[in-house]
Amino acid sequence: MPQKLIKKLTQTANHGRKQAFGAVMPARYLEGLEKEQVGLGKTVLITGASSGIGEGMARIFAKLGYNLAICARRTDRLEQLKAELMSRYPNIRVEFQALDVSDYSAIFQVFNAFVKDFGKLEKVIVNAGIGDSRQIGKGRFETNRKTAEINFIAALAQCEAAMQIFRSQNSGQLVVISSMSAMRGLPKHMTTYGASKAALAYLAEGIRADMLLSNLPIKVSTIYPGYIRTEINTNAKPLPFEVDAETGTNAIVAAIEAEVDEACVPSLPWSIVGQAMKRLPLNIVNKIS
Ligand SMILES: NC(=O)c1ccc[n+]([C@@H]2O[C@H](COP(=O)([O-])OP(=O)(O)OC[C@H]3O[C@@H](n4cnc5c(N)ncnc54)[C@H](OP(=O)(O)O)[C@@H]3O)[C@@H](O)[C@H]2O)c1
Repeated sequence: MPQKLIKKLTQTANHGRKQAFGAVMPARYLEGLEKEQVGLGKTVLITGASSGIGEGMARIFAKLGYNLAICARRTDRLEQLKAELMSRYPNIRVEFQALDVSDYSAIFQVFNAFVKDFGKLEKVIVNAGIGDSRQIGKGRFETNRKTAEINFIAALAQCEAAMQIFRSQNSGQLVVISSMSAMRGLPKHMTTYGASKAALAYLAEGIRADMLLSNLPIKVSTIYPGYIRTEINTNAKPLPFEVDAETGTNAIVAAIEAEVDEACVPSLPWSIVGQAMKRLPLNIVNKIS
């Protein structure tokens, strides 16, 4: 067998092993990465880092040795997070910027300022999002429009800004935080939210296809989290298969580090639920959603 083919097959097998380990035992997988300090000298940019999943991811990436470029509107929280992480991990750099992602031109300015400051960005995580959607036809167009804009149009602007940077670096990993609610059209208050997250997942898949076609070494990862208890669902009753923020963010960072194309997280039960949601009749999906 030609050397090149053997090398390719070995790489593919190693990549598959890494992804399976990260999916089945995310905490153990991350322990190994922490020992190796895989993030040393690398920078990850996270939007929506002032609470929940974004804040949790910042903590884990810091533990892995990454420098952090974090943004959100609540800068008091970012300042606190920076102070905490810098005292715990003095070998990394943490910088923050105020960013309202509904100000599209500010997204480009903030991302470009971060790249100027850090020199290079290894990962950009499009995470900022809102969950405030309402049943269609009940007079809540403004609420639904806002959700569609923040979760999709603002995410599109973040993908544009990140990909411009990655194209000029000829490297990088774009990560989008979609949702299990993107698997099918969902009823009631989930309709616009799910549609915005499905649009985001299709956008990411299109960018991934573009990278394949152009043979550029830029990775695109789409993460579909199940229910994770954060501020976005503070007042919700117990949710199906819900996990706490630490369990959820461990699963998310493990999938990102394993450079998945797509992952439902935590892998169990959501990869199975995802397959079921795609195949079952809509009236049954309604009952489990
Ligand atoms: N928790 C879940 O069960 C779950 C499941 C699937 C997907 N997700 C997705 O995960 C992402 C993070 O959500 P979360 O659960 O961590 O909720 P969260 O605790 O409410 O965090 C949302 C983050 O987004 C930021 N954000 C919201 N609007 C923004 C704006 N206009 N400009 C800039 N930042 C903005 C918030 O920061 P500021 O308010 O400080 O600006 C905050 O940091 C969202 O995209 C969400 O849809 C969550």
